[in-house]
Amino acid sequence: MSRLIVVSNRVNPPAPEGASSQGGLAMAISAALREYSGVWFGWSGNSTPTYTGQLSMQRVNGVTVATMDLEEQDIEEYYNGYANRTLWPLFHYRIDLTQYERSYGEGYERVNARFADTLVPLIEPGDIVWVQDYHLIPLARELRARGVKNAIGFFLHIPWPARELILTLPRHRQLVESMFHYDVLGFHTEEWKNAFNSYVLHEVGGMQLSDGRVRAFGRMVRPQAFPIGIDPAAFVSLKTSALGQESYDRMVESKAGRKMLLGVDRLDYSKGIDERLLAYDRLLADNPDLKRKIFLLQISTATRSEVEAYQDMFAKLDALSGRINGAHAEMDWIPIRNVHRMHSREELAGIYRAADVALVTPLRDGMNLVAKEYVAAQDEDDPGVLVLSRFAGAAAQMKDALIVNPFSQEDVADAIKKALAMPLEERRKRWRALMDGVERDDIVAWRDKFVAALREAHKAGAARPRPRIAAGGGEG
Ligand code: G6P
Repeated sequence: MSRLIVVSNRVNPPAPEGASSQGGLAMAISAALREYSGVWFGWSGNSTPTYTGQLSMQRVNGVTVATMDLEEQDIEEYYNGYANRTLWPLFHYRIDLTQYERSYGEGYERVNARFADTLVPLIEPGDIVWVQDYHLIPLARELRARGVKNAIGFFLHIPWPARELILTLPRHRQLVESMFHYDVLGFHTEEWKNAFNSYVLHEVGGMQLSDGRVRAFGRMVRPQAFPIGIDPAAFVSLKTSALGQESYDRMVESKAGRKMLLGVDRLDYSKGIDERLLAYDRLLADNPDLKRKIFLLQISTATRSEVEAYQDMFAKLDALSGRINGAHAEMDWIPIRNVHRMHSREELAGIYRAADVALVTPLRDGMNLVAKEYVAAQDEDDPGVLVLSRFAGAAAQMKDALIVNPFSQEDVADAIKKALAMPLEERRKRWRALMDGVERDDIVAWRDKFVAALREAHKAGAARPRPRIAAGGGEG
């Protein structure tokens, strides 16, 4: 069987037995790699004074991990700059926060070329290369320029923005052109895929073929939706682990008979945390009878602290939750428990299980795996209710959640009320339907569908004579 080479900015190898700090995606990639005897390649997370291109190889729990350091300027321009000050806000519809600096674009190109230089010697004939996420969009072009003929696929873990928004990006055309060096482009939802196709058809005069491929810049690529999932069985074992059970018991005790609402997020402006708190504030103001009967546990963890847009987020969140607590708290009841600490996966599973309502209300999100993990952690006999933003990719699949518009405080407050009052029978029915989806569209299905599509597209591409590359642009 051919090897799988996964490339991502962040490499998160499996922890030693017992501890599990890996996120859902990292766990999935590790599992995929073990099965395919592959390599996981990316940035070490460390900096060097000058770039050396030196590879560090390790074998961790059956996975070969290859990492390289980046120099300070690379980290600033490529990771903090183009990835997190330009593409992340733009792709999450926040052009007000997007910074369009030429030096960021140059750093992004330079680091993608460095990734390619370092990766090429690792690639053997027959290997398949799977590139992850917005940090590495032009990597296939760089690999092809260095003679790599292998199957190369790309998966975008964040939304693809509407055409009108991506036009604000200088050199948007070059970015999209670079994507035509992949065999397959994966998106979480049809919506993101259609937004990509819309750009190709309307901005660069591309063509949609009847088999789903699109043609532009003298090349063809297959954009396709592959909704990512979780490993539900692994999640169930997390919640029943000693640590998972302990955190569940602790949570149940501290609920003291109250209903618990839960938010779990990386502290990011795309997650709609402030908006969620304001909706909760509204709920309490309009329904004083709910006071003392409920509380919200909001767990928000630090992220991307070098980027200005993230720097005052804790202060804002703390001020807002402090204000809401001050306005509604009583001597023996606090409406919001605002927690910044990171929790292990086991602890989180226990917390999810104890929560009566999960509030997953991002303003824009590629998929959102918290929604799926919450469902997997529920007890069948007495499951909680998922309140889910219509702007999360997960909403396209999880139709039995209470779907809300996170921009409307009234809409979210109504959904929370409905969730709190939902009869057991309806909770069970909705949960069963959600869990069926989580089990069916799991992480293995995601990986296998992508790899199969990539193999097929590459085979079909190799059988065809390569079209001529049209200089500088679109069709005709
Ligand atoms: C999102 C992105 C990932 C990224 C993660 C954490 O989920 O899609 O690519 O790794 O956020 O962000 P960070 O900047 O800490 O890697």
